[in-house]
Amino acid sequence: MPTPSIIAIDGPAASGKSTLGRRLADALGYLFFDTGVMYRAVTWGALQRSIQIDDEVAVTALAENAQIDVRPPSKNDGRACDVLLDGVDITWETRRPEVDANVSPVSVYAGVRRALTAQQRRIGLRGRVVMVGRDIGTVVLPEADLKIYLDASAEERARRRYTEIIGRGGSADYEKILAGVRDRDRIDSGRLVAPLRPAEDAVILNSDKLDADEVFARVEALCRK
Ligand code: DC
Repeated sequence: MPTPSIIAIDGPAASGKSTLGRRLADALGYLFFDTGVMYRAVTWGALQRSIQIDDEVAVTALAENAQIDVRPPSKNDGRACDVLLDGVDITWETRRPEVDANVSPVSVYAGVRRALTAQQRRIGLRGRVVMVGRDIGTVVLPEADLKIYLDASAEERARRRYTEIIGRGGSADYEKILAGVRDRDRIDSGRLVAPLRPAEDAVILNSDKLDADEVFARVEALCRK
């Protein structure tokens, strides 16, 4: 079988999708595209413009009209890519706690999804891409050559997030992180449009007992098969 050209990786928050996707894209010389950053960019834009997150019309208009660019990283500061909103670099702003807290409700809006899905599909169909998200295998690129659904328990995902923050010298409360992870799972899986779920033809991997190297080795083997 030839190496798959369009690779979709879906799964819940903090399951290790981005780490896996980035590494796989590097190994294959493909574009890495983390679609979550687009929902995060719209959320940051709304917060900054004092648009109420529950104002669906205004948030959707922002998603339709804002210029969101996702480019290869211009700085070596740990970023996977540059995220620009109307020409302004907002890469680290998209990782702020207030974005974490508001991005799931924004991603529920059908009009926001329509606007962002169209852009993601256009980029994905060019091929030689590893695209990461919640609905890539089911909605954005159902024709993907390889679909991975990366899962892990909420407790394990919260533990990894906690260790990551502490490792960066920050302070964190495990129980709060776990509650946030569960909350996002509930919204991401329960929404009517493009809910989080594995595609029927996805390979499901549970990473509770696998470290990042083992997950990568398994997926790389699937690509080389
Ligand atoms: O992967 P992430 O944590 O950066 O995603 C942020 C939010 O965006 C998450 O709550 C779900 C949503 N999202 C989505 O609905 N569809 C995608 N393809 C990617 C992300």
